[in-house]
Amino acid sequence: MTTAENNTAVAPERKKVIFSGIQPTGVMTLGNYLGAIKNWVTLQEEYNCIYSIVNMHAITVRQDPAALRKNTMEAFALLLACGVDPEKCICFIQSHVRTHAELTWVLSCFTQFGELSRMTQFKDKSAKHPDNINVGLFTYPVLMAADILLYQADLVPVGADQKQHLELSRDIAGRFNSLFSNTFKMPDPYIPKLGARIMSLQEPDKKMSKSDENVNAFISILDKPETIVKKFKRAVTDSETEVVFREGKDGINNLMTIYSTITGDSYEKIANDFAGKGYGDFKTAVGEVVAEHLRPVRENFDRYVNDKAYLKECYQKGAERALMISSRTLEKVYKKVGFLPNK
Ligand code: TYM
Repeated sequence: MTTAENNTAVAPERKKVIFSGIQPTGVMTLGNYLGAIKNWVTLQEEYNCIYSIVNMHAITVRQDPAALRKNTMEAFALLLACGVDPEKCICFIQSHVRTHAELTWVLSCFTQFGELSRMTQFKDKSAKHPDNINVGLFTYPVLMAADILLYQADLVPVGADQKQHLELSRDIAGRFNSLFSNTFKMPDPYIPKLGARIMSLQEPDKKMSKSDENVNAFISILDKPETIVKKFKRAVTDSETEVVFREGKDGINNLMTIYSTITGDSYEKIANDFAGKGYGDFKTAVGEVVAEHLRPVRENFDRYVNDKAYLKECYQKGAERALMISSRTLEKVYKKVGFLPNK
């Protein structure tokens, strides 16, 4: 093509960049899946998606090294099992890409102590682990900002619990940009309308969490179908009988949200379909749709987790690509803050 032709050609629109991460601590829950991973899979069809197993975040809480290695590999296999496709997006393990730690240091010098002190996750986790309130736990949101800003991400698909961290990432980016001219893209959260906050099955006013001591409170996405149905049958609801979405019915609202996210049925349709049937039937139905939906994930997982060579090939390729992209941002940042180049 000649230069003239080049000039008249319409520049292809830049595909939006998506970044998100998940910690490899224990097995993923239905909350992780419906709040985040399910959307990661959909988004990869349309956008430039970059997904990471954030093992560096995981060590803010004490980890057994062998278990962390195993969990990291399994979390990677589980992502693929859920449908994240390494041919369509970049998937990597955070500690394989050194730029994350490097940008974190610079950004931490542009983050205020007061800002980090206000993070609710820090307050919650320090209350939960009073014997290990480490500095990493405190600066965790800066590492998260680095993860996102390194890739100039437009959108960050997360559950509602990560909203505050994302707002901080935006504040840090805005501050840096105004001090040193435009450097970082301002990332927007992508929080699903449905499923952004899946609640515990035992205490439905609390978020479903994999660290819950009561295994009946959460569904692991690798739970056996019969276990899933059993856990739903035991789900805590209320003393009424009507399957309807209404304030104050946290347990039923949560079950209806789960059912609706998976089947696509509206709350009205669910209420109609289960009119006069009572909670027992509904709980079993939710258990069955979840178990059926997760069946292929579990089967794929068994296949991937036993193919270590393939997993390694995928994460090595992912890390290489992630390093290439993120190094461009890091270089820009180093230059802007005044670090003397070593070239
Ligand atoms: P993590 O590992 O706790 O959770 C991974 C994703 O799952 C979502 N999630 C939920 N969604 C709905 N209902 C629930 N009960 C539920 N529990 C968890 C989380 O919101 C999250 O989207 N700090 C992050 C990981 C991270 C990250 C990042 C995310 C590190 N760097 C950069 C986005 C961008 C975390 O601990 O997620």
